[in-house]
Amino acid sequence: MWWWDAVVYQVYPRSFQDSDGDGVGDLPGIRRRLDHLAYLGVDALWLSPIYPSPLADFGYDVSDYTDVDPRLGTLADLDALVREAHALGLKALLDLVPSHTSTQHPWFREHPERYVWSPVDGPPNNWVSAFGGPAWSRDEQSGRWYLHSFYPEQADLDWRNPDVVRALQDVVRFWLDRGVDGFRLDAIDRLGKDEQLRDDPPATGSFPFPRRPEEAPLEMRYSGNGPLGLDAMRALREAAGDALLVGELYRPAAEYAHWLEVLDLVFAFEFMFSPWEADRLRAAIESAARAERAAWVLSNHDFERLASHVGAENVRAAAVLLLTLPGAAFVYQGDEIGLVNGPGVDPPLDRAGRDRLRHPMQWEAGPEAGFTTGTPWLPLVDPEQRNVEAQRGDPGSLLELYRRLLELRRGLGAGFRLLDGEPGVLSFERGGHTVAINTTREPRTAPGGELVLATHDGEGLPANAALIVRN
Ligand code: GLC
Repeated sequence: MWWWDAVVYQVYPRSFQDSDGDGVGDLPGIRRRLDHLAYLGVDALWLSPIYPSPLADFGYDVSDYTDVDPRLGTLADLDALVREAHALGLKALLDLVPSHTSTQHPWFREHPERYVWSPVDGPPNNWVSAFGGPAWSRDEQSGRWYLHSFYPEQADLDWRNPDVVRALQDVVRFWLDRGVDGFRLDAIDRLGKDEQLRDDPPATGSFPFPRRPEEAPLEMRYSGNGPLGLDAMRALREAAGDALLVGELYRPAAEYAHWLEVLDLVFAFEFMFSPWEADRLRAAIESAARAERAAWVLSNHDFERLASHVGAENVRAAAVLLLTLPGAAFVYQGDEIGLVNGPGVDPPLDRAGRDRLRHPMQWEAGPEAGFTTGTPWLPLVDPEQRNVEAQRGDPGSLLELYRRLLELRRGLGAGFRLLDGEPGVLSFERGGHTVAINTTREPRTAPGGELVLATHDGEGLPANAALIVRN
C-alpha cells in the first residue's frame, strides 16, 4: 500500500500559487509549483476543496461536486495537475465533503428530501453548530427548518436517503475515473444523526480538543457520531475500491478503531492539539499508535499554524517528531518554511476566525512573495523573513531539514517503541534508531549511538533540540 508511511502535503488551493493575477491561487498555479513538492520529497498532495462554492466556508460549502470552481480553473486543469503529479511520482488526493452541501447546491431546491429538516416549526432540539449558534435555520423560501452542523450556508445531507448514498458514490467514481488516488473525507463524525432527533445530553468528562463555547457543554451523542456514519463510509468505500480514504474525525483516539475497519487512515488530532510537552505528546502518541493507522498531523487550515502552536524555537524538533513517527504523516503548506499565523483581515472573510491560518505561500522575498502579480486575497505575512527561495539550498534552513528528514525516514526501519527518557525529553526507538526530542528550555543528555541527524549544533541534546542516532 503506497500510503502506509506516505507523507502527504496539504495544499490550500486559494493560497498556494496564483497564475492569472487575480490574487487567488489556482490549479495552473499549483501545477507550476509541483516541483516544490518533488524537491521536498513528499509522496502525495491533498487539495482542500476545489469545487464550485459560494465561499461561505471557502470550498467546504460545495455547490457542485463534479466540477472545478472557475476561479481555480477547469476540469482540464485538474486533469493536467493529476497527470503531472503522477509523472513526478506524486499521488493526488481530493477533499470530499459528504456531510453537507452549500444551500446554493441545486439539490437543496430540486431534491429537498436529500437534507435533514425539522418536523416542527422551529428547531426540534438543542443541537448546536460547530461554529456557534443553533444548528437549525429557517429556509425563507419554504418556511421549513433545516439542519446545518456548520455554517447556515451548509445544509446537512440526510444519509438515510439512498439517493444521497448513490449520488456521493457517483461523485467518488467521477473523480477516480479522472485519475485521483483518494480522498480526505471531511467532518465524517457529523454524518450519523439520531433518527429521533433527541437532545444532546450535557457533556461529562473532558473532551481532548478545543470546542466553541456553545458546543462544549454538550456531548455530541445524537447530533452526530451515530452508526449511520460508518454505514456511509462503507458506501463510499464500495465506490472507492482501494483508493486511499483518510477520515477527518474530530473525536478521541479511543474511537478510531471502528472507523478504521473501513477507512485507511484517520487524523491523530489528540497529537495535533497536544501542548509541546514530552509527557503530553507521549500520551497522545501512545493512544494514536495503538490504532496503528492514525495519520500524524500537527497543523492544518483550521487550527494554529505549527510554528505558532509550538513556538519558533521548537519548529525544527517538531519536524523531526512529525516525520520520524511510524506511519503516514501530513504537512500543511508553509510549515516547511516555518510560516506563522498571520493577522487575517478586517472584516474577516472566514467568520470562524481562520483567515490567519490561510495566508498565501511565501515563495520569495518581495511584497507579493511570488504568490501573485495582483493583490493577494489575504495579505502576505512576512516574505522577507521567510520564503522558499531563501531557504532552498541553505543547509541550516527549516526547508532543508524537512528535505533531509523526508529522505531519511525511508531508511529508518520498522519497529516502534516509546522509551522512558529524562524529564521533558520525548524519546522512542524507530527501527535501529533512537529519536530524542527535548521539549524543554534546558539542555539534556543525548542518547548514545552514531549521530544521524541533529536539529542544532552543540554537544548533548541542547534546549529545544532533537536528534536521531543509529543504535
Ligand atoms: C472540516 C474542515 C473545515 C470546514 C468544516 C466544514 O472541519 O476542515 O475547514 O469548515 O469541515 O466543512
